[in-house]
Amino acid sequence: MLDKIKETAAFILKTTGFNPEVGIILGTGLGGLVNEIEITFRLPYQEIPNFPVSTVEGHQGNLIFGKLGGKNVVAMQGRFHFYEGYGMKEVTFPVRVMKFLGIKTLVVSNASGGLNPTFKVGDLMIINDHINLFPEHPLRGKNDATLGVRFPDMSETYCKNLIKRALEIAASNNIAVRQGVYVGLQGPTFETPSEYKYLRVIGGDAVGMSTVPEIIVARHMNLPCFAISIITDSGVPGEIVEVTHEDVQKVASEAEPKMTLIIKELVKTL
Ligand code: HPA
Repeated sequence: MLDKIKETAAFILKTTGFNPEVGIILGTGLGGLVNEIEITFRLPYQEIPNFPVSTVEGHQGNLIFGKLGGKNVVAMQGRFHFYEGYGMKEVTFPVRVMKFLGIKTLVVSNASGGLNPTFKVGDLMIINDHINLFPEHPLRGKNDATLGVRFPDMSETYCKNLIKRALEIAASNNIAVRQGVYVGLQGPTFETPSEYKYLRVIGGDAVGMSTVPEIIVARHMNLPCFAISIITDSGVPGEIVEVTHEDVQKVASEAEPKMTLIIKELVKTL
């Protein structure tokens, strides 16, 4: 795997000549942050050696290089999901590559279903911890010690300092934000009412089909992580209604400007 990561990073560096400091992964309906980036390069995934190609509607596949908040960033416009059929090593491969390109921080966004009864559709939730319910672990298999340790610590998976700064940014811009635990599972079905109830009982505030694999791999490589979620539908008993991918995209893009502001201001402080 190391050879492939190095090969891909070398290709990107040769093609773009760009040195990113921050990596950003954009979730469903949240690709609009790209409009805030002063873009210097756009690399479609299919032109990047060893990269998987994104298949889902609403997930564009480009690696974007440019300036955001005065910092050099690389942004994934569209991510790879386990439910699409990729293995965990493929889902997380771009995070490995971004680390080898030189990023010092990873910022992740996603859309999720709300489990906490005080949350409303359209709310932002800063992720302060997660529960991994994916059926396969991205670090399963022989460990490459040049990437990270065999048994990574997960006591502060989401950087407390970054969370604190993001909360301050939200407060000073009059943006209401929640904090909570994100449960990651494979999808692609949304949850049954009983599953939502179960996820709340085990300690979840929101549930989605991404983020956890990428964060685990980033932490394996000791990258500080920040993640933020948009609550696009409710899994709270009594509030559950039929939900489609289009609903998720719509709510996500409506709430996006608030999220974009927080990420942009946060990146400025890095
Ligand atoms: N469940 C799982 N994933 C999701 C949801 C949900 O309710 N909403 C957006 N992504």
